[in-house]
Amino acid sequence: MLDGKKTLFSGMQATGNLTLGNYLGALKNWVQIADDYQTFYSVVDMHSITVRQDPAELRKRARNLLTLYIAAGLDPEKNCIYYQSHVSGHAELSWILSCFTYMGELNRMTQFKDKAAKHADNINAGLFTYPVLMAADILLYQADVVPVGIDQMQHLELTRDIAIRFNNIYGDVFTVPEAYIGKSGAKIMSLQDPSKKMSKSDENPNGSIYLMDDPDTIIRKCKRAVTDSIGCVKYCDEQPGIKNLIDIYCACCGKTPAEVEAEFDGKGYGDFKMAVGEAVVSVLKPIQERYADLTKNKDYIDHVIKENAEKASYYSNKTLRKVQKKVGFPEKIR
Ligand code: TYM
Repeated sequence: MLDGKKTLFSGMQATGNLTLGNYLGALKNWVQIADDYQTFYSVVDMHSITVRQDPAELRKRARNLLTLYIAAGLDPEKNCIYYQSHVSGHAELSWILSCFTYMGELNRMTQFKDKAAKHADNINAGLFTYPVLMAADILLYQADVVPVGIDQMQHLELTRDIAIRFNNIYGDVFTVPEAYIGKSGAKIMSLQDPSKKMSKSDENPNGSIYLMDDPDTIIRKCKRAVTDSIGCVKYCDEQPGIKNLIDIYCACCGKTPAEVEAEFDGKGYGDFKMAVGEAVVSVLKPIQERYADLTKNKDYIDHVIKENAEKASYYSNKTLRKVQKKVGFPEKIR
């Protein structure tokens, strides 16, 4: 709770090209529920360097992502949109929390296991303690709610465990956050392999729809999506490809799976895939247009970056000072 409003924190990594999964699983919900909360939306660039990055590329992607938050509909006057690396409290709290997190807990994290397997030549300590930094992000702002896709649930559970553990020792210091998972789109799968989640790092570009894909590319990718030979549009586990396309369609149009089944009753996959493609285009096109406009306005984006980093620092310092005092750090002489 900050200034009488419940608080919301979420973030995205500026790594790779954002996919439709990132949008439907997270960003879209961020925009939908923003007005009800005091919000903090971070571009989590410190998380990104757990995997090797080209510095110039990371800087560019971070700025693009911050601009995209605004293009998607987050008003930076009302929502605190900022770079994680501009607010030193994230790193400071992360250190303290790492002393309240067990190796065994971090060892169980499936994202760590997946990333360690993918980057076997660079299994660094940051990759291992990544979830602690994520807990610090959330707890620093006393977030009540964290809108994420299903893949981040394990990290959120760990955040809750760390908060509860800390509170049990020192009293009510942290708000214990709840996940907010959208009604549809919480786990969008690859269009080429519906057993895998749609991911920025997929080697097959046809598996993912990127937020900056042009309409023809989006339609083509939907048409090529892997389905089955059953031939009816039904929301069931036996038809994972179709189920995923229904999820995408529902998240884009606000329909339920039953309504979609009825709409395409007796129609073929060709018609359905075309409709999915068009629905995606109608959601992404206005965002792409606003994004193109915003990138022309360098001063405005610079202003947002500066103002919001100050705002985030102000709020995060409140929690940080409290935590430092609780664990016994000597007070600064001012
Ligand atoms: P990241 O950058 O991988 O993803 C950003 C958000 O997109 C969601 N998402 C998906 N949702 C549905 N279907 C998909 N295929 C899909 N792929 C990604 C993710 O669940 C996420 O909500 N560790 C986080 C970033 C982070 C964070 C935080 C999030 C750092 N600190 C604090 C919340 C709170 C991550 O790597 O997300």
